[in-house]
Amino acid sequence: MKKQFYQKALITGASAGLGEEYARQLADAGTNLILVARRKDRLEKLALELSQKYGVSVEIFTADLSRDYDLSSLVEKIRQTEDLDLLINNAGFAGKSKFYRDETGEAEQMIKVHVIATVLLTRAALPAMLKRNRGAIINVASVAAFSPFSGAMYSSTKAFLVMLSVNLQNELLGQGIKIQALCPGLTHTEFHQAAGMNKETIPEFLWMRADRVVRISLRALRGTKVIVIPGCRNRIISFLMRHPLTFNLVQWLSRRSKVRKMAAMKQ
Ligand SMILES: NC(=O)c1ccc[n+]([C@@H]2O[C@H](COP(=O)([O-])OP(=O)(O)OC[C@H]3O[C@@H](n4cnc5c(N)ncnc54)[C@H](OP(=O)(O)O)[C@@H]3O)[C@@H](O)[C@H]2O)c1
Repeated sequence: MKKQFYQKALITGASAGLGEEYARQLADAGTNLILVARRKDRLEKLALELSQKYGVSVEIFTADLSRDYDLSSLVEKIRQTEDLDLLINNAGFAGKSKFYRDETGEAEQMIKVHVIATVLLTRAALPAMLKRNRGAIINVASVAAFSPFSGAMYSSTKAFLVMLSVNLQNELLGQGIKIQALCPGLTHTEFHQAAGMNKETIPEFLWMRADRVVRISLRALRGTKVIVIPGCRNRIISFLMRHPLTFNLVQWLSRRSKVRKMAAMKQ
């Protein structure tokens, strides 16, 4: 049996992509799980598979994190789960609307799922972790947090997660709690398909596999880094987008129509 990192992990957005991959790798390490998403059938199937294969306990919790009632129920569930020592705020989506043409309330939904859910679930999980001086929280952000061309709402909500994580880690120093902002770049999941994007236009070498991204994230929990950017290319891109000498060049490039078309492929 592999070394068990954590006793119990709650993963939002566990019905697909990175969330499902976190569930697989944590179950393999002996961690009991609570899986959260809207699609109950997917969660049930995954829970059955993982509990049979790895002998861990897997609960499912169906919730739409953009709905107040579902979010409050999940907050209550976390408050009652004393042995929760890993929270992964992973649920997210790219959105289909332009900021100025948002007729479906997508901007508000994105704030609820990416920002409000993360804040409320984190606050619900921390007291028990602090009592035990042990625990970790992963906020799945994106390299889009540093990008001037990944959509006003998507980039800004992901940037919020990065700064929340960095500041929270400093507030919690010396108390045994690890906070991580994971910033993946293009990763093969259902994310782009869900947003109606055509993945074919982006060269394969720019993509990473979800299992690799998750492995890097979980391994990084043993270290001290708060912002974790998986993959060398993503680290270089993020550096260029942030560095004062290249920031203006990136801004200029972001106004070129070819670059904007490519960047409609959010990360
Ligand atoms: N793939 C990439 O290239 C990439 C790059 C950078 C960052 N990310 C981030 O990685 C995270 C995971 O995305 P992914 O790539 O794994 O995408 P995915 O395969 O589409 O999975 C998204 C997950 O989020 C859940 N979800 C979406 N809206 C929800 C809501 N309102 N309530 C509850 N759950 C919700 C979905 O479950 P249900 O539909 O069943 O609810 C699904 O399990 C996201 O935060 C995304 O922004 C992805």
